[in-house]
Amino acid sequence: MIEFEDVRIAYKDKPVLDGVSLTIHDREFFVLIGSSGCGKTTLLKSINKLLPLRGGSLSIDGIPVEQIKVQDLPKKVGYVVQSGGLFPHLTVEENIALTMQIARFSKEAIRDRVDKMLKMVNLDPEIYRGQYPSQLSGGQQQRVGIARAFAANPPIVLMDEPFSALDPMTRAELQNEIHDLQTKAQKTVVFVTHDMDEAIKLADRICIIQDGKVAQCDTPENILKHPANQYVTEFIGANRLWANPEYIRAADIMRRRPFTISKGRTVIQALQIMRHNSVDSLLVLDKGQTLLGVVWLEELIGKREADPIEYYISDDYIAVEGETSLKEIIATIDYDVSGIIPVIQHDRKLLGYLTKSIILATMSKQFVPEHTAGERSGVICPATL
Ligand SMILES: Nc1ncnc2c1ncn2[C@@H]1O[C@H](COP(=O)(O)OP(=O)(O)OP(=O)(O)O)[C@@H](O)[C@H]1O
Ligand SMILES: [Mg+2]
Repeated sequence: MIEFEDVRIAYKDKPVLDGVSLTIHDREFFVLIGSSGCGKTTLLKSINKLLPLRGGSLSIDGIPVEQIKVQDLPKKVGYVVQSGGLFPHLTVEENIALTMQIARFSKEAIRDRVDKMLKMVNLDPEIYRGQYPSQLSGGQQQRVGIARAFAANPPIVLMDEPFSALDPMTRAELQNEIHDLQTKAQKTVVFVTHDMDEAIKLADRICIIQDGKVAQCDTPENILKHPANQYVTEFIGANRLWANPEYIRAADIMRRRPFTISKGRTVIQALQIMRHNSVDSLLVLDKGQTLLGVVWLEELIGKREADPIEYYISDDYIAVEGETSLKEIIATIDYDVSGIIPVIQHDRKLLGYLTKSIILATMSKQFVPEHTAGERSGVICPATL
C-alpha cells in the first residue's frame, strides 16, 4: 500500500504538489491523469524517492520512503520513465540487468531473468538481447523499458506515459499486454497518461490531478457519472459516459412506473388497462411487487374474459437486473425483441422497465449534443439539401 498524507513538493520556491493525500492499494491499477505540468511525473518520482518532500508523509507498506535504502528500492518499486529512458550505450540485456545489479542479484539470476523478462514482453531474447536501443522501434524500446521495470520483481511498478509515443495499434496491443501482465503478476501499477480513453480502459481507479492537488480519485464509472468539479467534467469530455456502455446500468436509464397488473385480476381487466394506456403488454406482479411475468395483448384476445390472467402469464420476455450494464443488455437482447424489458432487483422485485427505443435513445446520446436531442419535430432533412 502506498500512502500519501498531505504531501508537499516544490522545485525551489515553486510548489508543485500542494497537499496530496491518497492511498494506492495493493494490486490496484491506479491511473494518474491531468493536464501537462499538473504534477503527475513529480508524484511518481516522489514514490521512487527521487524528490525530497517539503511536507507531509509518504510511505510504502507503512515504511516512510525516506527510510527505504536506495539498494532496496528496485525490489520494491520498478519505474518506466516518460519517453523510454533506455541508456543508449548499453545493450538491451545490460539495460534490463541494471536494476537487478543495484538489488544485488547473482550473475546467473540476472541472465535467467533478462531472458524471462524479454519473453514476457514478447521479444525473442536470442534476437534482442545484444541489440542497442537505437536498433529498436519505439514499441520495442517501450517493451524493454517495461521488462526493466519488472526485472527485480517489485510489487509496485510506476509507469510514466509509457505508450504516448506509439501508433494506435501498437498502443492498443501494449495496453492489453500490460493489463494481462498486471493481473497475472499481481502488481500494483501506478500509470500516468494524458489519454482519458486509456485511463478508462486500464484503471481500477483514476486520480485526476489539478494544479498539484487531487481533483477526484475514484473508479472510472463514478468519475464518468459524478465528476467532482468543472475541471473534471471538462477533462473527461462531453458524452464520454455514453461512449462507454459498460458503465451505464439498467437502473440509470430505465423508466419507472411500468403498467402492471396483480396476478389475481382477470382477462377483461387486463384488456381494459391495456386499451386505456395504449400498451400491448402488462407486467404481472404478486402482492409483494415481485415480477411473475408478462401478459401480452395478442395472447389475451379471444380468451374467456373472467379467466384470471395468471393462466396467460408468458415467460417469453427478457428481464434485466438494475446493475446490468448497457453493454450486457445490448449483447443479450435479440434484434427482434419487441415490447417491454422489465428491470428487477436480485429478488425479482420490480424496479422499472426499458424498451428498445429507450436503449436506442441512450446509445444515440454519444452522437448528439445534449441540448439538441429531442427538441425537434416534423421532417428532418439532410443538412446538404
Ligand atoms: N526539475 C525541475 N525544476 C523546476 N521545475 C520543474 C522541474 N520538473 C518539473 N518542474 C515543474 O513542475 C511542474 C510539474 O511538473 P511534472 O513534470 O510533474 O508535470 P506532469 O504533470 O508530469 O506534466 P506532463 O504531462 O507534461 O509530463 C511543472 O510546472 C514543471 O514545469
Ligand atoms: Mg510528466
